[in-house]
Amino acid sequence: MTKVLFVCLGNICRSPLAEGILRQQAATENIMIDCDSAGTSTYHIGELPDDRAQQMAQKNNMILTHRARQIQKEDFEKYDYIIAMDRSVYQNILSYKTRVSIATETNIMLMRSFDDTKGVLDVADPYYGTFKDFEEMNSVLQRCVKNFLKFL
Ligand code: 4NP
Repeated sequence: MTKVLFVCLGNICRSPLAEGILRQQAATENIMIDCDSAGTSTYHIGELPDDRAQQMAQKNNMILTHRARQIQKEDFEKYDYIIAMDRSVYQNILSYKTRVSIATETNIMLMRSFDDTKGVLDVADPYYGTFKDFEEMNSVLQRCVKNFLKFL
């Protein structure tokens, strides 16, 4: 079974929604996936997703129950794919990996490398944004997850 970890900064907006969307799409297509999400920061550890991310989840007919956590050394051993929501998160994951000096076969990738519209590399951080930014994030995540499943 493929194991996937989505990572953003706070683990309350982008990555828990991506996790939910992957679960949902994989179930629809009868694909077995083990997935989770984490943040690079400690800001929101233990919290449920942001209300606006939860609203997007409800639009997709799901409820997110994930509790925010920080990425940890063991994640590099467990997951086949660690998928970063933007370039800053990607760089932080690489630095963290070097810091904990772990040798790993994990593929560390950018979420938007799975987008149809090439050129934009980041799933924009919506935290200080508007409701429309959350809607845009939801569309981007839906698209990227769909293509990620095709890629698998
Ligand atoms: P996320 O969004 O990384 O998609 O979960 C953020 C959530 C919180 C903060 C930044 C981004 N923050 O600065 O608290």
